[in-house]
Amino acid sequence: MSFSTKLSFAIIFLIVWACGFSTEKRRPKQIEETQEKREVKRVSEADIINRTRKLGDSITKQVTAVFMGKISEKYAEGGYKAAAEFCSMKAYPLTDSLANEYKIFLKRVSNKNRNPDNVPSNLEKQVLEAYEYSIEQGDEIGANVQFMRSGDSILYNKPIRIPSELCLNCHGSPGQISKEVQAILKKEYPIDKATGYKVGDLRGMWSLKFLKKEIVQGL
Ligand code: HEC
Repeated sequence: MSFSTKLSFAIIFLIVWACGFSTEKRRPKQIEETQEKREVKRVSEADIINRTRKLGDSITKQVTAVFMGKISEKYAEGGYKAAAEFCSMKAYPLTDSLANEYKIFLKRVSNKNRNPDNVPSNLEKQVLEAYEYSIEQGDEIGANVQFMRSGDSILYNKPIRIPSELCLNCHGSPGQISKEVQAILKKEYPIDKATGYKVGDLRGMWSLKFLKKEIVQGL
């Protein structure tokens, strides 16, 4: 190999080495940048809990308003069957659209449930018990937010108390429930435990399951 060939090999080697070196040098910088971006996304547990609480409060408020309006309208019209259907979450497209928008799982649960689908889970039972205990103690009760054991979901609960006599038309003592409604309930819900309530009683609670990553994205 002539000297000039050796030299050109050496130059090519140097160029390749230099370029390789320079890309090597660039890479750690890129990693730093992505790390910085991730740093910005890092949020505290308190931020997550607060945002979940805000969202949960606003969603349950919206659904309750629509629900109260619809059910009293149907009941006043004498549409007992229609009114009974409107106490089911399935009757509200709003629930579906909210669930899709926030990727949440939304339902109501009760220890004395009418619909068998509304039985509380073990975790939900604990929250209901805590509410019952607070009521016995004469304490105020409000929304409760907690991380679920998996760590990737958050549970939002809010008590549902009987706000008015309207509810007793279908959740009161047998004397308060009309014959027509009793017949519908017996047919549709053969194992109905949701009667015998008074105004102010704890009827059950809202139970919303949020995905942590959705909450973090919205922060
Ligand atoms: C016209 C009858 C009717 C009225 C009035 C009514 N409900 Fe209901 N309620 C039902 C029926 C029927 C179900 C079962 C719905 C289902 O299939 O999910 C139910 C279910 C519920 C549930 C879910 C837990 C369970 O027992 O399955 C809650 C909570 C509830 N009602 C609260 C209320 C409150 C609070 C009011 C008053 C604002 C009210 N209801 C008024 C008929 C009624």
